[in-house]
Amino acid sequence: MYTEQQFNLPELPGLSEEQVQIHLGLYAGYVKNTNALLEKVEAMKDGGDAYAMAEVQRRLGFEFDGMRMHEYYFEQLEGGAQAPAEDSNFVKYVTEQYGSFDAYLDDLRRIGSTRGIGWVVTYYDDKAQMFRNAWVGDHEFGQLAGLQIVFVVDMWEHAYMVDYRPATKGEYFDTYLALVNWSVVDARIS
Ligand SMILES: [Fe+2]
Repeated sequence: MYTEQQFNLPELPGLSEEQVQIHLGLYAGYVKNTNALLEKVEAMKDGGDAYAMAEVQRRLGFEFDGMRMHEYYFEQLEGGAQAPAEDSNFVKYVTEQYGSFDAYLDDLRRIGSTRGIGWVVTYYDDKAQMFRNAWVGDHEFGQLAGLQIVFVVDMWEHAYMVDYRPATKGEYFDTYLALVNWSVVDARIS
């Protein structure tokens, strides 16, 4: 069974308390539903309706990834905004690959403008020794197998609709970037 994680969140200028509380409530739902689905899997393992079992399995990826992706997302806000340290491995490697940290963020911003609900994700591909930025639909469609998740931004409308509109989701994206504690991100690859 998974436990709902508690996040030590600071003041988040640009994201209202109402917005954050609604979002944390949704996260709690993913944890609850993941546990409920795993209980169903356990209960069905000795037989039963194969169709029902397949549906339960299909939903597990949505709920489980929804849980984990939100944990990455809120952890990145813990400790308060901290600019990327120039001497961090993350900045060093990103700069080597993209030419500059801003060019890396521009790539993320471009992917973040994808229509529909989903996530912008930076992965580290240990096999290819490089970062890869990608769009993940819902929480699970398009996840790249075996790559380590380094950074995420939730681009579901529920992540910003209290404070922003779909037409201004770019503003939400930039607001979120300004709130990130980049030392959390750096620690994921160090
Ligand atoms: Fe979300």
